Amino acid sequence: MTDMIPFIDLGAQRDRLRSKLDAAIAGVLDSGAFILGPQVRELEARLADFAGAPIGLACANGTDAIVLPLLAMGIGKGDAVFVPSFTFASSAEVIPWTRATPVFVDVDPVTYNMDPESLKAAIDMVKAEGKLRSAAVIAVDLFGQMADYPAIKAICDEHGMKLISDAAQGYGATLNGKHSIEWADALTISFYPAKPLGCYGDGGAVLVKDQHIADLIKSYRVHGEGKERYEYARIGLNSRLDTLQAAILLVKLDAFAEELVLRQKAADAYEKGLKGAVKTPQLAPGATCTWAQYTVEVDDRDAFRSYLSARGVPTAVYYPIPLHMQTPYAPFPVAPGGLPVTMKVCDRVVSLPMHADIRGEDQQRVIEAVQAYAAERAAA
Ligand SMILES: Cc1ncc(COP(=O)(O)O)c(C=O)c1O
Repeated sequence: MTDMIPFIDLGAQRDRLRSKLDAAIAGVLDSGAFILGPQVRELEARLADFAGAPIGLACANGTDAIVLPLLAMGIGKGDAVFVPSFTFASSAEVIPWTRATPVFVDVDPVTYNMDPESLKAAIDMVKAEGKLRSAAVIAVDLFGQMADYPAIKAICDEHGMKLISDAAQGYGATLNGKHSIEWADALTISFYPAKPLGCYGDGGAVLVKDQHIADLIKSYRVHGEGKERYEYARIGLNSRLDTLQAAILLVKLDAFAEELVLRQKAADAYEKGLKGAVKTPQLAPGATCTWAQYTVEVDDRDAFRSYLSARGVPTAVYYPIPLHMQTPYAPFPVAPGGLPVTMKVCDRVVSLPMHADIRGEDQQRVIEAVQAYAAERAAA
């Protein structure tokens, strides 16, 4: 049997950072400050600083990182929140949690991110129906590339809407040198282990610009705590980041900028080796990407995946079924004309092994397998 190359190799990163990680973990165990300890506050400041945001707040995971600003912004019943359907469940599930209504918007065929024209049409539709107030947009930085924030922010401003950047996959990406918080009211991050900046468990953070929103998020993440201990100003949740995870993330954050360079190098090698064989991912002008996933498009995905798997190359599909086609989300509105790009790309996308430590010889194996597949199909 052919040995499989890793899809993501967290072990290689662990080996590279081992002594620092071990010291950071031992430091927390010795301190006994397991919840919201000093490393959490340090991490919050450094995450904000890295992205040019005034305020950083850690929380339990990247899903809570989206619901916390929604709650703090007062989003609720009667509000429409616009979100892509081509995304992970978290981007949309948080909307009904607040009793607001998700409205699904189509994506751009090149970047896979929210299509501003589809957003405009969806807002007009909601306005014409007159039942909901257009309150917020959750744009997703899918696969690590930022959405078209300049265009989306202009639409939000025109309609008095809040803008959240779901940067679970895209924390670290820039457009014209700026992180998404330049345009968004909140930038949300996931530290799920496989994310470009991952911890060793669940973790998340939200970056914001407004002190009032930050104060509300601080309250919501600790059960809605008021000014005194065990006095509650609102109904909240339990969404704290463990100190252990913060200590691990501080070590990983030190290496993060360098890892983004390594990911870009790996993406460049794929682009060079795969161009012409499959549809390779493309960045918008002025964009950098975290390459959370390296996602190509093929005509016959099942055959492609089996072919690669037989040659020791694992693949993954993000995402095979758009959210608006899934039972729990079926009752919610979609942009006028449906979501044709979303439907098309869900059938075609497939992600290849990608991480900062990917070895040249492993990438070469991926490239050769894809090229052999393309050559066989061309000859058939
Ligand atoms: C686009 C997107 N949003 C939100 C999340 C939620 O993050 P978490 O798993 O940390 O809750 C994820 C990842 O899992 C994601 O990919």
